[in-house]
Amino acid sequence: MEIKITRNPNPPAPPTGGNYGFGAMFTPHMFQMEFRNGAWGEPSIQPIHDIALHPAAKVLHYGQEIFEGMKAYTNPEDGSVHMFRPDMNIKRFNRSCERMSMPKVDAELFMDALKRLIDLDRDWVPESPEALYIRPTMISTQPSLGVKASDAYLFYIIIGPVGSYFAGGINPLRVKVEERYVRSAAGGVGSAKTGGNYAASLLPIKQAQDAGFDQIVWLDAKTMTTVEEMGAMNIAFVYADKVITAPLSDTILHGVTRDSVGVLCGEFGLNWTETPPVVAEICADADSGKLLEAFACGTAAVVTPIKSLHFQGADHVVGDGGEGPVTCKLRETLCGIHAGISEQHPEWIERIPQFEAV
Ligand SMILES: Cc1ncc(COP(=O)(O)O)c(C=O)c1O
Repeated sequence: MEIKITRNPNPPAPPTGGNYGFGAMFTPHMFQMEFRNGAWGEPSIQPIHDIALHPAAKVLHYGQEIFEGMKAYTNPEDGSVHMFRPDMNIKRFNRSCERMSMPKVDAELFMDALKRLIDLDRDWVPESPEALYIRPTMISTQPSLGVKASDAYLFYIIIGPVGSYFAGGINPLRVKVEERYVRSAAGGVGSAKTGGNYAASLLPIKQAQDAGFDQIVWLDAKTMTTVEEMGAMNIAFVYADKVITAPLSDTILHGVTRDSVGVLCGEFGLNWTETPPVVAEICADADSGKLLEAFACGTAAVVTPIKSLHFQGADHVVGDGGEGPVTCKLRETLCGIHAGISEQHPEWIERIPQFEAV
């Protein structure tokens, strides 16, 4: 389907000089498409604008909403622009649609929308390692307070430059294992990227940050004994003979970075093992020195070392508290692939073509 493009008549100049922070700056255009009467309407790119919603719009009451988070980068060698594994995000978006009873988006149209929008605002894609953050979103818009799936939706994509997580250098994280609150339970919506999962995490994350921790680590809701993931990252533990992480299930987000790290570990000859990490064992192994490294991985953090885990009132320091060699190698490799300057995994890079001017 052809995407109708209306240019912003007064686009602001792209910012320069870095320090973009996260999620506060947006480019002059957005993609949007509405679902009504059982079908998606005309896809379009328009000047970025506010959205008018009836106060009874279902998204405002029952949270029928999903989103994605991914990035586009500039290749420092030739200035070209590309995305990293957007096909994975499109698939995850449509899986979230299914779980939240929302209509799927055609994968080809989704990819075309991403490419045309990014091409139009190409000047806003910063130099690596800063990047353009991409936020595809779907909300339910039917004005009705009945607790049932909406019959109308808005799918839109907004984009904007974001800073690098590593702007101030590599800062190993001090994390708190969350022993009171849980993120998701089997059969729930933990593997869907839906707003409610994040709303529910705000209080425990704030409590942890107020107590001086950088992030929280979620445990499984049923037994509170195994590590699932972190606030907005997956987590893995490095031993001499294996790297372990929670298996994919309906209680964790199926991270694109987690998947990529798993592939790279295999290629580095590391034994990537998807088995529930038992938190008491992880902490005892940190204390004894058997646990060599721990890292968080996600679109924002790429691969970030974990300095210590706080569990049952004590800090368990991992290794020497700094970045270990496996974490460093994974981070550097992935950053090279993200920037488009690595020869590894060219299939993970999706170029943004230069379309004819409209
Ligand atoms: C809860 C949660 N887990 C894990 C991740 C990491 O996923 P990805 O690597 O696709 O960014 C994210 C980030 O989107 C997240 O929000």
